Parts: sequence; C-alpha cells; structure tokens
Amino acid sequence: MNFVETYGRDPEGVWAAPGRVNLIGEHTDYNDGFVMPLALPHTTRVAAARRDDGLLRVRSASVATSEPVEIPLSRLAAGGEALADAGWARYPAGVAWALHADGAQGGGADLYFESTVPTGAGLSSSAALEVSTGLALNDLYGLGLTPDRLAALCRRAENDFVGVPCGIMDQMASACCTAGHALYLDTRDLSRRQVPFDLAAEGLRLLVVDTRVQHALGDGAYAQRRAGCEEAALLLGVTALRDVPYAELAEAERRVDDPELRRLLRHVVTENERVARVLRLLDAGTPRDVGPVLTEGHASLRDDFAVSCAELDLVVEAANSAGALGARMTGGGFGGSAVVLVMEAAVEKVSDAVRAAFADAGHETPRLFDAVPAEGARRVA
Ligand code: GLA
Repeated sequence: MNFVETYGRDPEGVWAAPGRVNLIGEHTDYNDGFVMPLALPHTTRVAAARRDDGLLRVRSASVATSEPVEIPLSRLAAGGEALADAGWARYPAGVAWALHADGAQGGGADLYFESTVPTGAGLSSSAALEVSTGLALNDLYGLGLTPDRLAALCRRAENDFVGVPCGIMDQMASACCTAGHALYLDTRDLSRRQVPFDLAAEGLRLLVVDTRVQHALGDGAYAQRRAGCEEAALLLGVTALRDVPYAELAEAERRVDDPELRRLLRHVVTENERVARVLRLLDAGTPRDVGPVLTEGHASLRDDFAVSCAELDLVVEAANSAGALGARMTGGGFGGSAVVLVMEAAVEKVSDAVRAAFADAGHETPRLFDAVPAEGARRVA
C-alpha cells in the first residue's frame, strides 16, 4: 500500500521528520532548563495532499488497518476526548486541532505515513509523527509557521489533545536539528545553537542501545516527577527549577524538607550544569571528555530522579566496564534506550559486552545502532 493506492490520486508532496536521541539534559525541559538532543537518520515520512471537504484521512504503513481513518475536522473542536479510541491517529489529528486552535487557516488532507523510527523505544516516534504532519499541513496550506512555532503546536497537540504531559524537547529536536550537530536549546525561550558534533572526525561513535523494554510516558510516573518538580519550585519561590543556580544548590536543598522532592531538585539543578559542561567540552573540541559526564548524568537519573530500570543500568555498567567513554539512559526512562559514547576501536568489544550481559541476565536481545547526527524536518519531494 502507498498513498496512490490508498487515495486514488498523487500526493502533492512528501515530508520527513526524524526521531532523536538526547545527548544530555534529561527531565530538564519541563523545568524550563537546558537540553542537547540530536536528530537520528530514522524518520517518519508523510505523503500528503489537500482536501476541500473538511476531512482528515490518515493511514500508516506500519498499522495493519484495512481502511484509512477518517476524521471530520469539525469533530476535533471537542478536543481529544472525542477521539479517545483512535489510537495513533490521535497524533496527526491533534496537530490539525492545535493548528486550528492557534488560528491557522488550514483544511482537510489525505495523509499516508511510513516510519523507520522505532516505537516505544524512547526515540521520539510521537514527535516525528506530529512534526511531519505539522510541516506537511504548514506547507500545503502556506501557514508560514516557523520551526519553533510548529514544535510548540505539536507539543500542544501531545499535551492537550493526546494527553501526554511531555516537555518541548522532542518536537524541537525533530523540527530544528541539523546534520552534524547537537542542538543546544534553552527550553524557556527556545533560544538555541547548533553545536558541531562530528563524531567520525574524532574517531568516536555514539551507539544507541534500544533495550526493547517498552515505556509509557502517560502511565503516571512521568507526570508524577513533573508535579514533584513543580512543587519543589513553588517551595523555593521560583518560577521553575531552572532558576536555582548550581552554586546555590546546597542552600536550596536545606530549604526542601521532603527527601523525595530534594532528590528531584538535585537532579534537575546538576543536570542543567552537566549540559553547560558538555557544551563547553564540545566548544573546546574535546568531545571524548563528554563520556564521564554522561555516566554521571545516568547516576543522577537512576539515584536521584529514579527513572532508570535494570536494563538501562545494565547497558551503562556493561558498556563502561568494556571500555566505553561513558553512557547514560536517554529520553524519559522506565525502559527505552541508552546512548554509549565509545572510541571507534572499542565499538565491537563494547557492543559484544552489552549483548552478553543481556543474555546472561535473561533480558531480551537489545538492538544496537549508530546515532549519526542527522537533519531535522524537511520536505523531501
Ligand atoms: C520525554 C519527553 C520530553 C522530556 C524527556 C525527558 O522524552 O517527551 O519532553 O521530558 O522525556 O528528558
């Protein structure tokens, strides 16, 4: 199946949006903090054409449904509740809803999706789906949205239509990353800088290890961390935990009695400092030194923020014992993927060690691949 076979006509164009891994800056985005993701070569592609009857029709090559899902745009006004049982189709529908709610003069469309972004692996397949939809509608209807505005609307779709309380990192990464760079992003005002991250030139590789443990951000644990951070910020009298300077962490910790909230505070403040450190190392042309900062970040996510799991901890432990420069979980946690920074010469040894450790522990075989910083969302045909 493809667009032509599904809809009986040619598409007007094809758009692609990538998944991402985050190098550093985890669980900082909903604290107005700093992140540094990079786009993966894996993308969601959407072939699309306008419709003038107010109907949105969506179909995905990876979902075995016999008919395309048909959604009258008029039904979207009621919000996500009206489509609660529409599964993956809620994401593109949510984007159409968010564009409309923002005053965009869009209309109906036929959309056909194909994706190489692994789902449920913490690699932002949802953001790729949203951003590809948003970019297609933006171009088809000449909406003139900038990439960061588009990312903000895609996030709104996920928060307010689908009902997942994510931050803005994934949508910004998918919309704004460029090849060969990591994206240094201030999630408060969306100011950003493309930071050269040429792994090959340094004899380095960034491996992604998909543990194949499925996570579900919507399952409450993510929302609960988020609420805890907001509570800590309120206690400290700041807008968001980003406003607690690293130099004042000890003092801030003394003012938070609840040990759990104190640990959340500590992670966010130290993680923002780690982003600053990684930025300095990349700017100084010493990316190898980033390794230990990644491992430090993992310990903080495991011990303070408590969002890791046995499989992710095992990747980090096995990779580092076999000679990796550093490793950490990436994304929301509770499963999903880890990133491992490793010298070219040690790739095989480290990969074998991770696979062997998983086999010994009786875990499912992990999936390993290279993260080569790729370009963000764009029109491809
Ligand atoms: C998920 C969310 C992001 C971010 C990360 C944790 O990927 O979608 O907004 O909060 O978790 O850094």
